[in-house]
Amino acid sequence: MTNNASLTAARERSDRLQNLIDDTAPTDPARAAERAGLRVLTGDRPTGALHIGHYLGTVRNRVTLQDKGIDTFLLIADYQVITDRDSLGDIHGNVLGVLADYLAAGIDPARTTIFAHSAVPAANQLMLPFLSLVTEAELHRNPTVKDELAATDGRAMSGLLLTYPVHQACDILFCHGNVVPVGQDQLPHIEQARVIARRFNERYAGGEQVFTEPNALLTSAPMITGTDGRKMSKSRGNTVPLGATADETTKIFRKAVTDSERHITFEPERRPEVANLLTIAAEFSGRPAAEIASGIGDAGSGELKKVVTAAVNDHLAGHRARRAELIADPGYLLSVLRAGNERANEVADATLTRVREVMGMVY
Ligand code: TRP
Repeated sequence: MTNNASLTAARERSDRLQNLIDDTAPTDPARAAERAGLRVLTGDRPTGALHIGHYLGTVRNRVTLQDKGIDTFLLIADYQVITDRDSLGDIHGNVLGVLADYLAAGIDPARTTIFAHSAVPAANQLMLPFLSLVTEAELHRNPTVKDELAATDGRAMSGLLLTYPVHQACDILFCHGNVVPVGQDQLPHIEQARVIARRFNERYAGGEQVFTEPNALLTSAPMITGTDGRKMSKSRGNTVPLGATADETTKIFRKAVTDSERHITFEPERRPEVANLLTIAAEFSGRPAAEIASGIGDAGSGELKKVVTAAVNDHLAGHRARRAELIADPGYLLSVLRAGNERANEVADATLTRVREVMGMVY
């Protein structure tokens, strides 16, 4: 299949899935059964604090999926932190911070299983049979791995960076996740996981469907950039952390890059920085970007910055208050994570047992 054909196919599967998810009470029993069999697996790398890009791009959608009754596994991908850097940083603090943001945003640990990579050994062990199913050339071709290497300013490719799409396949397949909400940049990884599932079933399971091929659920959220117009990332210092205070948020937006035209208009192609701030204001206030722009008009970029700051601060006030309470109670956060880890281990142990059985490795 060509790249375009596989993109089109992935889009079609994604649209079909989204329809099924939105159909909260299907009358057709086969459709109801298919919907009941959906399981979401998704996650984040705890490289730092989650920011408004995460919130708009993924976090709020996970809450929606959960609230539509879709069984959800949410991974804090701690091992994946060291794919492209030498240091884990404050991993413990970052994991608890990510967890606090999930809960503050409305993820309910009674319905969603939240767990960390490093706490689920049986899921990691799938790496061995799965590595045997991919070639080195396939791994080197993965465009997302190439992009991530290019973004590391001349680092050498580590074995973990090269093979992390396989590790990501372990994340997805250990719990039989069949819905993976991602941006388009992660599609090569989903494709790799599909190939691994297919090859495992053919080579080691005599065609039995031990693993199901997962589907991407492509996000419709608008891509927002950082306050300097570049990709939003902590290392560039251009993010708005979810946990920032209202004052910190004001300072961050005050320094945001705009342009020299006074009159504010929503023109994403010609005025990307201004359009980005308008998009953020629109997403957090629920008003159309063009309408916000005409409301500001000749009041200029100073007023635009005030408007976007107010939209973010108003919308996130409750989130931030809940987050602060949670962060003050690390014992509670750890108990949530331990319960999630326990549940993930049960599922991973069952999968690994099945894998050993079909491979004839039961002694
Ligand atoms: N690679 C993803 C990211 O950088 C995080 C992640 C790890 C993930 N494992 C996953 C996402 C499995 C989806 C499925 O954002």
